[in-house]
Amino acid sequence: MEIDSSSLSFRDAYQLMISSIIPRPVAWISTIDLRGQHNVAPFSFFMGVGGKPPMLAVSVAHRRDHQKDTARNIRETGEFVVNICPSQMAEKMVITSGEYPHEVDEFRVAGLTPVSSAVIKPPGVGESPLRMECKLMQIIQPGDNPTDLILGEIVHFHLDDAIVENGLPSPFKLNPIARLGGQNYASLTNIHEIPRPT
Ligand SMILES: Cc1cc2nc3c(=O)[nH]c(=O)nc-3n(C[C@H](O)[C@H](O)[C@H](O)COP(=O)(O)O)c2cc1C
Repeated sequence: MEIDSSSLSFRDAYQLMISSIIPRPVAWISTIDLRGQHNVAPFSFFMGVGGKPPMLAVSVAHRRDHQKDTARNIRETGEFVVNICPSQMAEKMVITSGEYPHEVDEFRVAGLTPVSSAVIKPPGVGESPLRMECKLMQIIQPGDNPTDLILGEIVHFHLDDAIVENGLPSPFKLNPIARLGGQNYASLTNIHEIPRPT
């Protein structure tokens, strides 16, 4: 099958991309607005960028004609927490993806626990064992597309001791959820080692 991408609608291209670029980790992002109102939502167009400083990138599409609460809050406050979502929290994570009005606190809707961050104001999700506190570096709007590509510097890592092995998160203990196409998700089941050539 050959597909000319110029023939695709936004929705068709999005569906094709989320089924092609798999599996994806989920950045479960917690933010606050200028009044301190909490927000939580998941984003899987997400990747690490660079190491010093440690940076990450998340792509947040606009909702119809306006920006999503996550992008708005990050623009206003310059701070956000990327919480890694363990598989056992996937259903709660999906609840936080609902299109709730700005005033709705998704911590409450999904029954999540806000926990204080070490160096920024937005709280993390207590049910996540790995939280990255970020400060906004840049927001890029590629071309005239209704999408915010958010670049953040990770200023603090929180790792629960229970998931750490030899100073790093253990994939078995972290047990992150992976997003696939459609409404499908996967958990890690077959982890194996392949040494790199020297
Ligand atoms: C697993 C998952 C991954 C998602 N990934 C993205 C994404 O990468 N970019 C995006 O704009 N929306 C994504 N969404 C949709 C947002 O979570 C959704 O639009 C949410 O309502 C945004 O909330 P907010 O307005 O509070 O920021 C995803 C939803 C789910 C369930």
